[in-house]
Amino acid sequence: MTVPTGRFISFEGIDGSGKSTQAKRLAAALEADGFEVVLTREPGGSAGAEEIRALVLQGEPDRWSAETEILLFTAARRDHMERTILPALAAGKVVICDRFADSTRMYQGLSRGDLRALVDQLHALMIGREPDLTLLFDMDPDVSHARAVERDSIDSRFENFGASLQKAMRSGFLELAAAAPKRFRIVNAARDIDAIAADTLSVIKAHLG
Ligand code: ADP
Ligand code: TYD
Repeated sequence: MTVPTGRFISFEGIDGSGKSTQAKRLAAALEADGFEVVLTREPGGSAGAEEIRALVLQGEPDRWSAETEILLFTAARRDHMERTILPALAAGKVVICDRFADSTRMYQGLSRGDLRALVDQLHALMIGREPDLTLLFDMDPDVSHARAVERDSIDSRFENFGASLQKAMRSGFLELAAAAPKRFRIVNAARDIDAIAADTLSVIKAHLG
């Protein structure tokens, strides 16, 4: 007898690269094909993690130290794993997660000094799992940032990163992808929504077999 195990897919990329738009499109396309899909996001994705989301994304930029912020994102992720992601995978569902640990590696790992080692240590201790597949939505930060600021959200604590940090994060994501080529697929996100959605679906279908 085979035990059902789902697939854990994350979407990553800088702000405004189209992850949420594409995650919704993909979820709808897979559901139309008969897959059971859980579409979720970070920070958030469970009741407790959504509460932590408000703590980390709202308020003054210096509200938390860099280290406290890493703890908060990891606490949110742990709750999301326990209550949403792992149960869905155990039930054989496809989990599409809009951002996961690679976002912490980039945002908290790079934005206030080099804290990558700390992020990785805490991940190993408290999360200990990577997605089965990660799609990196890659594009020029100048264009994606213009898209993101137009949205006018209250979750704006991270929206004033300068252009050089956005560029560093883009390169950092590409380096993560190069270091883990089995897990990552890079999607050119600087195209129209339909073209990206078609590409995304074919990459995922190839992965799901
Ligand atoms: P993310 O989740 O990566 O921050 P979103 O999916 O929220 O990105 O998209 C950011 C903004 O850009 C939204 O207003 C969305 O409608 C728009 N958008 C998304 N994809 C594209 C695209 N391929 N071309 C132009 N605009 C887009
Ligand atoms: P999100 O709602 O995905 O924003 P966007 O749609 O602009 O991509 O994520 C909110 C912000 O949280 C985003 O600026 C990135 C940040 N973030 C971190 O700093 N660390 C993390 O671990 C995660 C998951 C997100």
